[in-house]
Amino acid sequence: MINIFLLGLPGAGKGTVSEQIVDKYHLTHISTGDMFREAMANETKVGLEAKSYIDKGDLVPDEVTAKLVEERLGQPDINEGYILDGFPRTIVQAELFEDIAKRMNKQLTNVISLEVKEETLIRRLSARFMCKKCGATYNKITKMPKVKETCDRCGSHDFYQREDDKPEVVQNRLKVNEKMNAPLKDFYQKKGLLTVVDGEQTPEEVFKNVDAVLSKKQ
Ligand code: AP5
Repeated sequence: MINIFLLGLPGAGKGTVSEQIVDKYHLTHISTGDMFREAMANETKVGLEAKSYIDKGDLVPDEVTAKLVEERLGQPDINEGYILDGFPRTIVQAELFEDIAKRMNKQLTNVISLEVKEETLIRRLSARFMCKKCGATYNKITKMPKVKETCDRCGSHDFYQREDDKPEVVQNRLKVNEKMNAPLKDFYQKKGLLTVVDGEQTPEEVFKNVDAVLSKKQ
């Protein structure tokens, strides 16, 4: 069983490497950011609350986030293991998760932190765009759709830029997340679970390094 946390600042490539991990290891990809965006689109109570934080680049409160993760982990498709992308982001979330995992018998096996310089993150986020229909991620510099203006995954022609990828919000997202990142890495380093991966490389190279860590667990 492989159960992973993917840590990394906004734009570090967590979503990108998650797709590659899913392809090879068939784990369930759980992105708290994606879950919040879905809840916002459906205008649920959680979505409306999350929106007030996400639109400013702030973190959604710990208890709200941990509850969402707990509910998701309780669903029956997690048997092969999970990748939690973008969770935890605070020590409080990490501690809440320890209780959740113990109760559900879904303990962590690996924590991978993708390390990318701030200038690269800003460049990636300002160039990112998404498919409105299926959420597939593209990049004006490094990953354009194979067929012009057509989503590779679902064929839609409708793309958008995430509200929180606008430059004024990106600055705050980076500031908020940078403050939390070092203590979290320290927390998992002490538990012997952390591997740091250079996220500045190409997506293929990043995955190769992540794969080297995960294949030892099989
Ligand atoms: P979330 O959606 O998780 O955003 P994030 O952490 O800011 O991460 P991103 O999705 O922006 O980036 P990524 O690392 O997945 O990079 P990607 O692969 O897309 O969260 C959004 C918000 O929700 C948060 O700000 C917060 O408000 C709230 N939230 C979520 N989780 C929370 C939690 N636990 N607690 C509280 N609040 C929470 O790549 C980025 C771009 O770069 C793409 O265009 C991609 O094509 C390109 N790219 C990727 N890898 C490479 C590479 N190796 N080389 C070149 N280009 C690359």
